[in-house]
This record gives sequence, C-alpha cells and structure tokens, in this order.
Amino acid sequence: MARDSIALYIHFPFCLSICPYCDFDRQATGFDRIDVYLEAVERELRDCPRERVHSIFFGGGTPSLMQPAQLEGLLQAARERFDVEDDAEITVECNPGDADLAKLQAFRRAGANRLSFGVQSLDDAYLKVLGRRHSSEQARQAAQWAREDGFAFNLDFMFGLPGQSLQHWQHTLEQAVQLAPDHLSCYLLTLDEKVQMGRDVARGKLVLPQDDELAEMYTTTRQQLAAAGFEQYEISNWARPGQASRHNLTYWRDGEWLGVGAGAASAYAGKRWKNTPVLERYISSMKATGAAARVEDEAPDRLTRMLDTLTLGLRLREGLSLEAFRGRYGVELEACLGDTGTWLQGSGFVEFADGRLRIAEDHQLITNEILVRIEEQLGDYVRRETSTSQIAAR
Ligand SMILES: C[S@@+](CC[C@H](N)C(=O)[O-])C[C@H]1O[C@@H](n2cnc3c(N)ncnc32)[C@H](O)[C@@H]1O
Ligand code: SF4
Repeated sequence: MARDSIALYIHFPFCLSICPYCDFDRQATGFDRIDVYLEAVERELRDCPRERVHSIFFGGGTPSLMQPAQLEGLLQAARERFDVEDDAEITVECNPGDADLAKLQAFRRAGANRLSFGVQSLDDAYLKVLGRRHSSEQARQAAQWAREDGFAFNLDFMFGLPGQSLQHWQHTLEQAVQLAPDHLSCYLLTLDEKVQMGRDVARGKLVLPQDDELAEMYTTTRQQLAAAGFEQYEISNWARPGQASRHNLTYWRDGEWLGVGAGAASAYAGKRWKNTPVLERYISSMKATGAAARVEDEAPDRLTRMLDTLTLGLRLREGLSLEAFRGRYGVELEACLGDTGTWLQGSGFVEFADGRLRIAEDHQLITNEILVRIEEQLGDYVRRETSTSQIAAR
C-alpha cells in the first residue's frame, strides 16, 4: 500500500505490580535492569530502517514509570534515526498512580503530546478487585493535570466487570465524560484462564455479567458517548472530532509500523515479526548480535494478508475501502466474498455503501462471528484462485 510514513511503537514492559486480568507482555521484576534494557532499546532504534514517522507510542507495561530523562533519551534516539514529522502524535501510556504534575510536565518538555491513562473504573471498590494501585481520585487528578499541561489525552476503561450492573457502568461513563478527555477506550473485560481473574471466574469465585447484559452495556456506551459528542471510530474507541489516535489507526488501516523492545511486534515491508518477550533474552541478543531475538518472523501469504486487511478494517466504523482492497490485491472484494457477502448484506450484518464495506452499527459486538464466515469464504476463493493459476501455468 502506498504510504509516506510509518508508526513507531516502543515497549516498556515493567509494572510495579501485575493486575489479575492482564495478559500483556509485562513484568513486575527486574527493575535493576531498566537502564540496561533501555540501552538495548536505543540500540535497536538506531538500527531501524530510516523512515518518516507520523506517530510514536510508548506502550507497556507501564511507560509512565520511566524517568523523564529516560523518555527523552529514547525520543532523541528515535529522532536521530527517523524523520519524525513536526506534528507527530507522541503518546505515553500512563498509570494514574505514577502521574505527578512535575513528571507529566517533564514528559511534555521531552516531546510527548498525548497521554493514555489506564483508569479502568472510577469506583474504588472495583479498582481494588482489579488490583489497581491507584484510587479514583488519583485518576481524576491525573486527567486534570493532563488537561492543564495541554496534552491530548485518552482514558482506558473496562466494562463487564464481575458483578457489574448496567446502572453502574452508565454512571462510570457519566463520570468519565466529566473528566473531559479527548478520547475514550472502553474495553469489554476479556479473561484468559492463564490470568488470576480468569481462573477465579472458571472456579465460580467471580461471576461476570450475562451476554445480554454485556450487549446492553455496549449499546449504552455508544448512546451515552454519542450524546456527549464523541464519535465512535473503532469497536472499542471513541474520540472527539479530529482526536482519533493516528497511531492506532495505522494498525487498523493495515499500515506499516516498527515495534522496538521486548515483546514488540512489527509489520513492515511485507513482513511481520515479534521480538522475544523474555527480557534477558532480548537484552543478551541485542548485546551479542545487535539484533533482537524473534519469536515470530514471517512473510504472510496472500490469504493471510487479505484476512488481516479485512479483520483490522472491519473493526473501524469507516470500514474498508473497496478501491484500496482492489488496488492492493488486484481483485474485487465483492467477488471474493461471493454468496457469503450477499447473505451477510441481505441479513443486515454488513453494509456495502459509499465504496466501503463495514459492519452494520448494531452488529459490532458480533464482529468476530461475522469474520469467521468471511474467513471461510475467502479461504475458498484464494484456493480456487491458486488452482486456476496452477492449471493456467501447466
Ligand atoms: C497495555 S494496557 C496498558 C495500560 C497501563 N499499563 C495501565 O494498566 O494503566 C492497555 C489497556 O488494555 C486494557 N486491558 C488490559 N487487560 C485487559 C483485559 N483482560 N480485558 C480487557 N481490557 C484489558 C486496559 O484498559 C488497559 O488500560
Ligand atoms: S494492566 Fe497495565 S499496569 Fe496492570 S499489569 Fe497490565 S500492563 Fe501492567
């Protein structure tokens, strides 16, 4: 796909404690290795291909644990290697518990212009259940400082918490809007049995809301946030006009990005890879070879690439451009989807409109089920395409 700039992701895997629902690449040990780790990340940055960059995202883990000088060092290394656009979006993920005014001001001076706070809930009892180290008051205070410092800022929330009622979530949303964020991410709590809360649910110690209650919570999210002037642009993301995350849009529009640090993934020049999430392995491979050890490294085949484009694009409210799909794969998306596409459209699950394919508004929560149908059909199409070209080549 034609593009003149890419996104850059920098992973900081350290957290002061591990939240019982979290399955990200993170650790609450090895703090004495932070400096060595950051040196390795700077080295990886210096060896990246030279590119123009429109966004830099410090994700984690908890990047707000970094000292401002450490953030500045990474940004300087990035600026030396990349042509960072003057108006690049530079985001730091923050835990409200480590956000003090002086630190946020120093992040701003270092070049960050957007903050993303993991708030999760504004009810102290739930923050405790979620193993969070901060109070709701700290989250409110952090939002106020972000606003005063002139940052654009996002607040992350989770809904569908154990025992949560629809009214409780509605009240959370009302309070969230009062904090005047530019952007809100509202995630449905999703638990794997690998994590403590997932095991507690499997054993019946915690009970999650029923599917119909979750659907109501999602509907109310869309209604309340629309009424408060937020535009939904992705399944779990809402923004004030013009405040959608440029960085995350790069992922969903199936653009190119480079990820550096332990566990960081990249999609670049037709390849996809993921660095080892094991801190010591990452550090030692950077030291020994100047390159990060990888746990995944592939050049995806045509079917995988098409599926990625669809899976990512259909998460967006704008959907997927039929023309861009044709330009990229040389075939019409409607032809690939055949009868399945006609059925999905006839049943009201998807819409083909304004040169785009999108999931119908009321069916966003079943996007995964819709994608399963699409995946089967696309698989058949690509297999037929491959056998036709093999016959033609004989
Ligand atoms: C990588 S985390 C980083 C945020 C930061 N470490 C913090 O927790 O404050 C990004 C967001 O993903 C969401 N998240 C994490 N685990 C989740 C889960 N199991 N289900 C749904 N959302 C989750 C949370 O809202 C979290 O703020
Ligand atoms: S939710 Fe955030 S703070 Fe909690 S363990 Fe995961 S990455 Fe760390």
